[in-house]
Amino acid sequence: MRVLVTGGAGYIGSNLVDRLVRDGHDVAVLDDLSTGSEQNLRDVRPRIELVVGTILDEPTVRGMVKDADLVYHLAAAVGVMNIVREPLQSIITNARGTEIVLDSCASAGTRVLVASTSEIYGKTTKMPMSEDDDRVLGSTTVSRWSYSTAKALDEHLALEHSRNGLPVSIVRYFNSYGPRIDERGYGSVVANFLRQALAGEPITLHGDGSQTRCFTFVDDTVEGTVRAATMDAALGSVFNVGNDSEITVAELAALVKRVTGSDSNVVSVSYESRYGARFEDTRRRVPDLTRAASVLGYRPSVALEDGLRRTLEWWRQEHR
Ligand SMILES: NC(=O)c1ccc[n+]([C@@H]2O[C@H](COP(=O)([O-])OP(=O)(O)OC[C@H]3O[C@@H](n4cnc5c(N)ncnc54)[C@H](O)[C@@H]3O)[C@@H](O)[C@H]2O)c1
Repeated sequence: MRVLVTGGAGYIGSNLVDRLVRDGHDVAVLDDLSTGSEQNLRDVRPRIELVVGTILDEPTVRGMVKDADLVYHLAAAVGVMNIVREPLQSIITNARGTEIVLDSCASAGTRVLVASTSEIYGKTTKMPMSEDDDRVLGSTTVSRWSYSTAKALDEHLALEHSRNGLPVSIVRYFNSYGPRIDERGYGSVVANFLRQALAGEPITLHGDGSQTRCFTFVDDTVEGTVRAATMDAALGSVFNVGNDSEITVAELAALVKRVTGSDSNVVSVSYESRYGARFEDTRRRVPDLTRAASVLGYRPSVALEDGLRRTLEWWRQEHR
């Protein structure tokens, strides 16, 4: 198949591109390299087409979609830091950019997968988070919520296109980590802890570290993505793609220390010092994987300690 991956030079995107090339597909990538890099694609570079450009450039998107049999739409302004620092550009990329990708797919009749996020659920306290749950968000005066809102608009657009006949499916990722994680991006907590542990610097918890997360190794993220993008049963639906094993951020710090053999101290810093006043964090975030398991046959297969060791191996090679 001829496959287009928007955001294919990013962390998840490049791991997906590796997998698609391995599976024998003909892959094109559209990426503006704002947070992604050509370096992420170096293993497959001669075998793929890379267009450096933005999803906001409609003629380029239309042209590339026209040539594709399937589109993975992952390009987005990602990462809480990016969103808080550049909220306006992030909203435009995540809302208008996806609108352009979906319109182009609708015109060409091309199947598309939209990458969404666990941030959709906001600060709900209902656990585990199921795809049809209510969203619980903070005020529009808190920039962080614009990411959740823009991604929710993307989902609404995708689902309405689906009702109009476009073959589309949606995945909501939960904290993915693995080779190519970037400290500026989503994997930031794992990337930060690894860097700090390996440098012998203090490992910094935001708040007291009692907030929990469920970390998903990137191979599992990619597996769920491919299944949702290609199975007929996935059409018109939204799927949590993650790992449901929950850990506090303080426990993650201890595990990173163990895996790296580091003797760094673990210290607590305030959210305000990193993200500014009025930052709001979510206490827990656990995916309900019932739908992904029953419809897609998806089950995460890499345990956190194993995934951290594999990430560390990559990290050491990369930072030699
Ligand atoms: N990593 C996670 O845990 C996670 C969690 C939830 C959702 N997501 C979603 O997964 C997708 C991939 O995220 P990631 O973690 O790999 O982040 P990433 O920043 O590594 O990937 C995003 C890619 O999109 C590119 N991009 C940004 N704006 C663009 C534009 N206007 N035009 C073309 N390309 C553009 C970037 O250069 C980058 O390569 C995103 O849609 C993100 O919202 C990721």
